[in-house]
Amino acid sequence: MKVFVAGGTGFIGSHFLKNIAYDDNFEKIGICVNKRKPRILSEKFEIYKGCRIDSKSLFQVDGNYDYIVDFVGIIRETRDKKFENVHHRGVVNLIELAKRVGAVGFVYISAAGVDKGIDAAYMRTKFLAEQEIVGSGLEYLILRPSFVLGPDGDFAKMLKKMIKFLPFIPVIGDGNYQVQPVFVGDLVEAIRRGILEGVSGIYGVCGPDRVTYNEFIMAVKKALGSKKPIFHVPVGFMKLSAKLLGPLSPANEDQLKMLFAGSTCEEADIFSKVGLNPKPLPEIVNLSFSS
Ligand SMILES: NC(=O)c1ccc[n+]([C@@H]2O[C@H](COP(=O)([O-])OP(=O)(O)OC[C@H]3O[C@@H](n4cnc5c(N)ncnc54)[C@H](OP(=O)(O)O)[C@@H]3O)[C@@H](O)[C@H]2O)c1
Repeated sequence: MKVFVAGGTGFIGSHFLKNIAYDDNFEKIGICVNKRKPRILSEKFEIYKGCRIDSKSLFQVDGNYDYIVDFVGIIRETRDKKFENVHHRGVVNLIELAKRVGAVGFVYISAAGVDKGIDAAYMRTKFLAEQEIVGSGLEYLILRPSFVLGPDGDFAKMLKKMIKFLPFIPVIGDGNYQVQPVFVGDLVEAIRRGILEGVSGIYGVCGPDRVTYNEFIMAVKKALGSKKPIFHVPVGFMKLSAKLLGPLSPANEDQLKMLFAGSTCEEADIFSKVGLNPKPLPEIVNLSFSS
């Protein structure tokens, strides 16, 4: 199997590269490298430097690939990275690439709730990307994860720091919005199996435990042995800080909308499709927060 990976330098993409680098089923792995380097090296890697999926730089990719795997995503816009370009235009460019290099399949990491009509550019552009892939004529495996956790993930690192240094643990609003965290190792193993088994369709990627954000924080506190109190930050305060501080605020208005909409899976889940038992919440939290 020959795969071309975009976003392989990020959190989930790096775990995927580690998972397939020593798997003999994968003989060649092309990697689109932009700012950061891949976290591991392998002689199977074919690295394309200066590669951005929202630019013409994809033209440098040559040879043959069977699958395109796209982990590219941004959570906030910057001056040179806009949701429309990175999520939507980038996928259109990758579909063109797929056809040029003879790929038969496309794996896309979307997000839970992308089809709920949440009024946030992150969600809108990911949903548009999904539709481009579905209409492309390629085989597709579209995955919609909830919170993806692992010890090296930005979210776990940020939460650990907050719990260590603040006198309280901030929770935005009432904390009753739902989440269904999934372990990063389970997600990337499902992708590996999905590719090898030629699974196609749109699937949710959630752990077995659906909990409120408050319950999730209680589980994290337990794993860390923290006795710090939870402080519910009023939604009005968060909205005001998003307005006044703009990009410097801890969460912008779109991120607040996505948080309150919850992050759970309603569609068929990938784990039963590929015969994998995803880790339960206490184990995910221990693996992600106790080290
Ligand atoms: N983490 C979660 O909990 C979660 C939940 C649901 C869905 N997702 C989705 O899963 C995917 C991976 O998430 P992640 O947490 O691994 O994100 P991440 O750590 O921020 O990684 C994002 C990757 O995208 C690359 N990238 C950004 N803009 C690019 C561009 N224009 N061209 C090429 N590469 C570009 C980054 O490369 P450089 O940094 O090197 O530039 C990096 O490799 C994203 O699509 C995200 O929306 C994540």
